[in-house]
Amino acid sequence: MSIEMAPKDKRDKVVLAYSGGLDTSIAIHWLKDNYDVDVIAVAINVGQPPSSDDIVARALRNGAIKAEYIDAVDEFVEDYIWPSLKANAMYQGEYPLGTAIARPLIAKKLVDVANREGAKYIAHGCTAKGNDQVRFDVGIVSLNPELGIIAPMREWVMTREEEIDYAKKHGIEILVKKDSPYSIDENLWGRSCECGVLENAWAEPPEDVWGWTVCPCEAPAEAEYVEIGFEKGVPVSLNGKRMKGADLIKKVHEMACRHGIGRIDHVEDRLVGIKSRETYEAPAAIVLTKAHRSMEFVTLPKDVTEFKKILEQRFSQLAYDGLWFGILRESIDAFVDKTQERVTGTVRMKLLRGNAMVVGRKSPHSLYDEGLATYAEGDVFDHKAAEGFIYCWGLPNKTAAKTARKKR
Ligand code: ARG
Repeated sequence: MSIEMAPKDKRDKVVLAYSGGLDTSIAIHWLKDNYDVDVIAVAINVGQPPSSDDIVARALRNGAIKAEYIDAVDEFVEDYIWPSLKANAMYQGEYPLGTAIARPLIAKKLVDVANREGAKYIAHGCTAKGNDQVRFDVGIVSLNPELGIIAPMREWVMTREEEIDYAKKHGIEILVKKDSPYSIDENLWGRSCECGVLENAWAEPPEDVWGWTVCPCEAPAEAEYVEIGFEKGVPVSLNGKRMKGADLIKKVHEMACRHGIGRIDHVEDRLVGIKSRETYEAPAAIVLTKAHRSMEFVTLPKDVTEFKKILEQRFSQLAYDGLWFGILRESIDAFVDKTQERVTGTVRMKLLRGNAMVVGRKSPHSLYDEGLATYAEGDVFDHKAAEGFIYCWGLPNKTAAKTARKKR
């Protein structure tokens, strides 16, 4: 296709969410070709493994007018992972939302660059069938409603082979990686895997879907113990040593991977109406969420725990559905933060062969009273109070039963 190119200084700019992979590498060329735009490629680090080459330099060689790398790991931890942990976020009770909560942050970084560069569009490499396109598109318009969005992969109809041919034809430099049968997304909070044999929901995931954790059957037979210190709902120390958030998550990740913890096999409901079978590895998320919940169980009153559960479910749903930048999330965050004022203390976890067990907890705000709980000496519970309490508690049922009898 030949198009008349606008003079360079008149051309619109597009900020491309660029990963260095095949799709976004050829997208640089495709965007220039189909939209007559200058491409600014932006790679955002949210804790995924680094590429083996300099992807920024490669983007420039492939025709981007500018390319940059943004390290957003600490922001990911502080503004996305910790709020999610405080809300015990778990989509459908199974998936700790690793991919879902990174998308709004990536959208934010892209919008920042677009604003700074005066770009007219943002482009991303999502397909038309997933949730990620929704999270990017909605995230972007929530932050700057004037920006246009281009999703090349929703427009072009190229198979992987055709993409490789396109790259060859246009002299696009791609990193030749072993062709994986899976679609994988990784960041500091988790690893998501779909496609290939996983599409058969009955087939057990083959060992090669797991990229982070050892098989629990090969994990050490000796347990490892770790003490996780929390302050206002946020993990701040491991075995008494204070650490920066990202470092703490990496340490827990290493331990949990070694013990085969955090493998998840789930058929989930996508926002676009499709059920999809995916596997997740979320070693740190699983260990820290368990620890966090147990910290809450000793520090929060029963009614708060119960009510918070409703909002946790809602938080997980809206994060999954791409509504991170919304008033509901901010409001739930405010409620959650209020509850977390008491969630300070230490949890002792035992890691063993695929399991993370809570084996101890202590807190200056603990509501656990051994004097009330004990069946041994030192019991302070007023045993006489039980009978009267139960009389009142059971009275509605007793009355109903009597009425039912009379009717017979
Ligand atoms: N199903 C998950 C979600 O919607 C993960 C998607 C991961 N993306 C991928 N390309 N594997 O959050």
